[in-house]
Amino acid sequence: MSETMLSVAGLGHRYGGANGHLAIADLSFDVRAGELACIVGPSGCGKSTLLRAISGLITASDGEVRLRGELVRGVPSDLAVVFQDYSRSLFPWLSVRSNVEFPLRSRGLGKAERRERSDEVLEWVGLGDAAAKYPWQLSGGMQQRVSIARALACRPALLLMDEPFASVDAQTRFELEDLLLGARKQFGSTVLLVTHDIDESIYLADRVFVLSRSPASIVRDLPVDLGAERDQIATRQSADFVQLRSEVAQLLDVRTAART
Ligand SMILES: Nc1ncnc2c1ncn2[C@@H]1O[C@H](COP(=O)(O)OP(=O)(O)OP(=O)(O)O)[C@@H](O)[C@H]1O
Ligand SMILES: [Mg+2]
Repeated sequence: MSETMLSVAGLGHRYGGANGHLAIADLSFDVRAGELACIVGPSGCGKSTLLRAISGLITASDGEVRLRGELVRGVPSDLAVVFQDYSRSLFPWLSVRSNVEFPLRSRGLGKAERRERSDEVLEWVGLGDAAAKYPWQLSGGMQQRVSIARALACRPALLLMDEPFASVDAQTRFELEDLLLGARKQFGSTVLLVTHDIDESIYLADRVFVLSRSPASIVRDLPVDLGAERDQIATRQSADFVQLRSEVAQLLDVRTAART
């Protein structure tokens, strides 16, 4: 059994003081080293709040988060986050390469090592030729590749992703999903990815945590035994995939959600 990378215990968060909005309530789960876990939940249920609390961007009102056993207070340096909105997460005045190297500078890496890392990850995400370009010269899918490259360059203990593929077209989304699966294999990353897309969560994950509607808590911790090799067509057509999808859809009560 591999070590526990992330441990979330009794996490709760209320925005705006005692009478404010309760976004998440009593959330507990673990993510093991090397695992790709997805959190799937309805729109507005508290997914981003959960990721913000895990990444130390907000201090949760209750419970605790541990990364490799260490209590998280503030943003840990061995954690990287990829957000949905790539256009706001990249610096438009910096080249692609400088965007990727930016967090490496604050982590104290020297120039040669920064260059080596950015070369490696940009090549790896298929943007070896775009290093000198600016983010606004690239398509949305390419910009999100830069965000992923920037996160991977940090070699994070944990990669957190908040709806990372929600703003790109369907074809690009499939490509980026497969890029993530490849990255995970190549770099041995531990990934926690939040999505509201049931199919995406099953396609990517070793485990899916299904969240309730607001305030978010975990209604099911579902192992996904679809093997390490996934294929956009064959996997999504397999009987196991279809079974898991209907199980998650029932848990999320999608028909009720559609009516309300
Ligand atoms: N800074 C804030 N102050 C007050 N309430 C907030 C704040 N941020 C989020 N909320 C509320 O907390 C709840 C959960 O929001 P959150 O963004 O975590 O949900 P989400 O599941 O990520 O939504 P989406 O599917 O739209 O991305 C929502 O009701 C939202 O209005
Ligand atoms: Mg969100």
